[in-house]
Amino acid sequence: MSYYKSIRPYIFKLDCEKAHTLANIMCQIADFFPPILSYLSKKTEVENKTLTQNIDGMQFHNPIGLAAGFDKNATMIRPLCALGFSHLELGAVTPQPQSGNPKPRVWRHIQEESIQNAMGFNNEGSLTISKRVQKLYPFAIPLGINIGKNKTTPEADALNDYLKLAKDFANLSNYLSINISSPNTPNLRALQNKSFVKELIVELCKVYQKPIYLKLAPDLPMQDILELTDEAINNGAKGIIATNTTLDYSLVPNPKEIGGLSGAVLKQKSLEITKELGKILKNKATLISVGGIFNAKDAYERILYGASLVQIYTAFIYEGPFVVQTINQELLSLLQQDGFDNIALAVGAKL
Ligand SMILES: Cc1cc2nc3c(=O)[nH]c(=O)nc-3n(C[C@H](O)[C@H](O)[C@H](O)COP(=O)(O)O)c2cc1C
Repeated sequence: MSYYKSIRPYIFKLDCEKAHTLANIMCQIADFFPPILSYLSKKTEVENKTLTQNIDGMQFHNPIGLAAGFDKNATMIRPLCALGFSHLELGAVTPQPQSGNPKPRVWRHIQEESIQNAMGFNNEGSLTISKRVQKLYPFAIPLGINIGKNKTTPEADALNDYLKLAKDFANLSNYLSINISSPNTPNLRALQNKSFVKELIVELCKVYQKPIYLKLAPDLPMQDILELTDEAINNGAKGIIATNTTLDYSLVPNPKEIGGLSGAVLKQKSLEITKELGKILKNKATLISVGGIFNAKDAYERILYGASLVQIYTAFIYEGPFVVQTINQELLSLLQQDGFDNIALAVGAKL
């Protein structure tokens, strides 16, 4: 049993948000002591050309990224990089600061290796967060910004929120991830319609010249997912991030009444969507798969079905801080076993 697994029961005695605050504090401490960061970087590094890729003009030293929502305020960039992630998706950031939904708003479903969250885009807002990112940007690894609208912004003005964020981060990020798929901002998912997606991407491309990825919800009918993907790509998006959390409460025995589910219970849904999107995006646009990825086998499966990159959130909580290293080491063996000299050759190999 790993060291983390042996202390996990004690961490899990803490309420989720308190545990997250503790992680944040540990990151701040590590950030203060460069030798800790360099020790961690050396320990977690799985340096091998087989894992490296250049995607949409960005260099990735492995395919495992941190999914949005863990570092909402961009306070943990250097420590998270030292844990081996190849890219970090920061946010969700909204134009104005907002406190999110009332607590409690995050719960663990431990048996199911799942998290249910109803955070509601709690973050310090674009001004504060962009100033913080400015101190580090350009950074050693690609930094994406997950952008969302403020809760109080009426649907009719949503576009302006996204445009403001794109402008604020135009010179402070390597890519944007458009979040219209969170279940925790009222009516946000209603923006997942073809006409809004078209207008949004067209307008965003005018103010943001780097890659724009659209992050989709797993609860849409497959036909809608495919049509929204077409609309996004045909109007300038470079790819799709699939998926956000699910509202399918049948997946856990004792669901709370609000919030989206992530982790192992999302795996099947996210995999199915990856397979379908892999087919239509192959050689055309980038697919980033997220949802229920816990180990190298899970990550490899997504890659074989067309994902160039994968992201994790819940596995980081359940498997611990060294999960990226473990996944990368095992992924390297899987790629070598199958005779792939570079991971890019494995992308979509099963399609
Ligand atoms: C506590 C929590 C907060 C999240 N916040 C965001 C967010 O702000 N923006 C976003 O796009 N996704 C957010 N997500 C969704 C994750 O980025 C990811 O899409 C989802 O959790 C599925 O991946 P996983 O199964 O590896 O956790 C959040 C997830 C969790 C558990």
